[in-house]
Amino acid sequence: ASAIVNSSIAAHPVAAAAPLSKEVTVLYGSQTGNCHKLATKLSKKLEEQGFQVSLSSMGDFKVNGLKKVQNLLLLVSTHGEGDAPDNAIAFYEFLHGKRAPQLNELRYSVLALGDTSYEFFCQTGKDFDKRLEELGAKRIVPRVDCDVDFDEQAAEWMNQAIGSLGESPSGQAVAGGTTQSIGNVAADAESEYSRTNPFHAEILENLNLNGRGSDRETRHVELSLEGSNLEYEPGDSLGVYPENHPKLVDELIEEMGWNENEPVTVGKSGGKSPLREALLRHYEITVLTKPLLGQIAKLTGLDRLNDLLKAGLEQELKDYLRDRDLLDLVRDYALKGVPAEAFVSVLRKIPARLYSIASSLKANPDEVHLTVRKVDYEAHGRKRYGVCSVHLAERAAIGDSLPVFVQQNANFKLPQDPNAPIIMIGPGTGVAPFRAFLGERQETGAEGKSWLFYGDQHFSTDFLYQVEWQRWLKEGVLTRMDVAFSRDTDKKVYVQQRMREKSKELYRWLQEGAYVYVCGDEKKMAHDVHAALIMIIEHEGGKTPEEAAEYLSGMQQQKRYQRDVY
Ligand code: 2AM
Repeated sequence: ASAIVNSSIAAHPVAAAAPLSKEVTVLYGSQTGNCHKLATKLSKKLEEQGFQVSLSSMGDFKVNGLKKVQNLLLLVSTHGEGDAPDNAIAFYEFLHGKRAPQLNELRYSVLALGDTSYEFFCQTGKDFDKRLEELGAKRIVPRVDCDVDFDEQAAEWMNQAIGSLGESPSGQAVAGGTTQSIGNVAADAESEYSRTNPFHAEILENLNLNGRGSDRETRHVELSLEGSNLEYEPGDSLGVYPENHPKLVDELIEEMGWNENEPVTVGKSGGKSPLREALLRHYEITVLTKPLLGQIAKLTGLDRLNDLLKAGLEQELKDYLRDRDLLDLVRDYALKGVPAEAFVSVLRKIPARLYSIASSLKANPDEVHLTVRKVDYEAHGRKRYGVCSVHLAERAAIGDSLPVFVQQNANFKLPQDPNAPIIMIGPGTGVAPFRAFLGERQETGAEGKSWLFYGDQHFSTDFLYQVEWQRWLKEGVLTRMDVAFSRDTDKKVYVQQRMREKSKELYRWLQEGAYVYVCGDEKKMAHDVHAALIMIIEHEGGKTPEEAAEYLSGMQQQKRYQRDVY
């Protein structure tokens, strides 16, 4: 065979110019899994084009190999207030620090995912793009910043990046691409259903978990996956496409003087749907963003709207956008008269909501369970509704169906080792994935010990899944549980206080190799729990605060500290 190869090379000599490298490194930083999925898809495409691909999460990437990389395609999301995903933090800090190498030989491009309703839209991607340039790398294709509906733009960037990498002076394509991946690259599920083609899952159960008199309403929703071939693992999320509140849709139609049956465009392929239907199911009407206001200003030419958008009024604009929706906008700026078709053409597609799955597929074949807290509050003189949670709480009846898909989350997984101890911290609905964890560990007969920290407002009305934890405790599936009910006592107690009270034992578990999982509110709870962990490690391990922080980031590198926070 080698003789044939040799002779074919001799027959078609390669042009004299140095061929460009066919090795590409694809690096991703992913919080909810979108960048991970896109990076996997990109790697497959590159491979088909004959590239040798090395695909890696930023968290698994060995930074001292960076100087040897010639082609880098970097995909990263931004969440919260311009924050990098957990698995991107170490790499981000390395690249922005003093130890970052000169990268004059590197060719690169960045795909940034984000959400235009946040102030620091795509900030992490912007930072990486700028920093790589500063370090001397050559940008081969401009960065693309994607909003929540990212598929088309991402596909476009991929094609351009691949095209640009493939532009070699000789025009020769190299066959036989391979992908070498580092870390956990989940294979695409077998199912035909995905974010862009959701499965319509029948609602089997829909209960309020809170007792009478509670301030809260938390739904336990069970859905059927029968016939979908959808699979998930504990730690994964379910994407749900909600419907807007009919009352809001009707008020909007009335306010604008539209005809609810007028056909309007939905989707990029130009399909039509009656206006009311389109506003219920297809378009986002509850979030105002700066780009949206910009487009409406362009559409209407309204001076007052242009004034609001003017530079220098940043704070005023931010204050206006917060907790307001399209109905406020059309009332405040008297938008009546704008034709429906033109209006919907500037709206975003309604994004799916992601919920941490609360069930184990092994324990509940063909089912997926969710734990969803209803969000409703008053703002600017009107009642506001969380789109998906209120849909589930008020209008999703047993027998109805919901468009759903599975979002894999490689950053929140049970240890491979069934004997490894796990510590789970999940106040409120943050407890959802731990119900999946324990269901799975029971079903697989895993023997590792487990410890749950749970908290909510009141013991008597807000102890979600109380009987299940108690049963698991009795059966030994759950080794211990500590609870913090914040409003049963004069002084508030939170989960992190319970952790500090048990710090000796908690540190012993860490020394024994325990995995720590945190799920729930990011800004307050997860931040405070992080600080508590550092304090515990500091005191019990006799370390300085810096050493304790290092210990914890070491755990994070080993995937022994995983967070699913929002
Ligand atoms: P609170 O509402 O009484 O302040 C689930 O929402 C539980 O998390 C509630 O008991 C809530 O208490 C609590 N919580 C609020 N802020 C928290 C924080 N910073 N750390 C931990 N728990 C918190």
